Amino acid sequence: MPPDSWDSNISSMPIDTNYSLVALNTFGVRSTCAAYTSFANEDQLREGLEQAERPVFILGGGSNILLPDFLDNTVLHNRIMGIRILSTHPETVTVRAGGGVLWHDLVTWAVDQGLGGLENLALIPGTAGAAPIQNIGAYGVELTDRFVQLTAMNRASQAIRIFDHAECAFGYRDSFFKGEGRDQWVILDVDLRLSRNPELQLDYGAIRDVLRDRQVGQPGIRDVFDAVVAIRQSKLPDPAEIGNAGSFFKNPVIAELAFRNLKDRYPGLPGYPGEDGMVKVPAGWLIDQAGWKGVRRGDAGVHDRQALVLVNHGQATAQEIRGLAREIMADIHDRFGIDLEQEVNILGNLD
Ligand code: EPU
Repeated sequence: MPPDSWDSNISSMPIDTNYSLVALNTFGVRSTCAAYTSFANEDQLREGLEQAERPVFILGGGSNILLPDFLDNTVLHNRIMGIRILSTHPETVTVRAGGGVLWHDLVTWAVDQGLGGLENLALIPGTAGAAPIQNIGAYGVELTDRFVQLTAMNRASQAIRIFDHAECAFGYRDSFFKGEGRDQWVILDVDLRLSRNPELQLDYGAIRDVLRDRQVGQPGIRDVFDAVVAIRQSKLPDPAEIGNAGSFFKNPVIAELAFRNLKDRYPGLPGYPGEDGMVKVPAGWLIDQAGWKGVRRGDAGVHDRQALVLVNHGQATAQEIRGLAREIMADIHDRFGIDLEQEVNILGNLD
């Protein structure tokens, strides 16, 4: 379990200038910010917001960002820790996680407690506080499925507000905090409803295959967790070994007619039916089909097992990674008539 508000009694945090963020972004790009401090509680955050002399950038796990060489912002790093049980019911338990808690630590804690609902979301990098912003999801489960409410501080007024489920306006890798509420709020903590006897989600991807190979007859929460960890480890690069920010692009959603036309040309094209007759198409398949898997431009590259993930082989700069992304986007547009959208948050002016 992560430490419980380890430094919450310290009232004033030092501000560092020209601070290196290389260890604080999972892409591992070299980046320096104008000013940096962290906060472990509401008061420290308030102080950081008041003292900031530049536009504020809130840093979580640094797992969904591409940073420029120099970030002319005051970076406030969310280190609000702690996981606690708020209420228990015969079937469900509501838990509160501090915004700075590592997401995977929260999932592991839940599995250790025998609480289900998050096991499909194992090994997603990042923090609990960042999870609602893009409504993280994997293997048939999204944060929205377990979310109850969150507490956030307004950056301008420093007022505290609770956002319920509806107010967060969750969508596919999307929420109020990416749209209308962008850059206005800091998420302090997140409440989730977990289940003692969850309906396990086994239908997505290779989960059933892994359970069968492991001869698991009656899978429990931990079996699903272990299967997801194994699948992710086999396909997705570990940021500790090779810099990356997970999926670089969103899976595009196209009209059914466009899907059928493409399917005539590419019979192997997978598609997942969505709302209003739209079809979600895996960007990884398109990029793979176009021959980009494993391609390198200097130290910027496309992962060799999952084409949706761009990687930093060592010294790649944000410009190089962005350049490779642009090349891929132009090619996918030319070949398939589909405009890919970037999922990673690109900071600074790289265009
Ligand atoms: N595919 C290929 N080649 C590739 C990659 C994928 O042919 O290089 C095909 C697969 O064979 C499969 C389909 O594309 O038929 C979908 O692939 P996969 O199941 O790996 O999932 P994805 O759609 O590529 C999404 C999420 C991932 C999440 C997985 C599993 C997005 C943008 N990405 O990827 O999330 O782990 O599903 O649920 O929705 C992330 O957001 O950072 C992330 C890793």
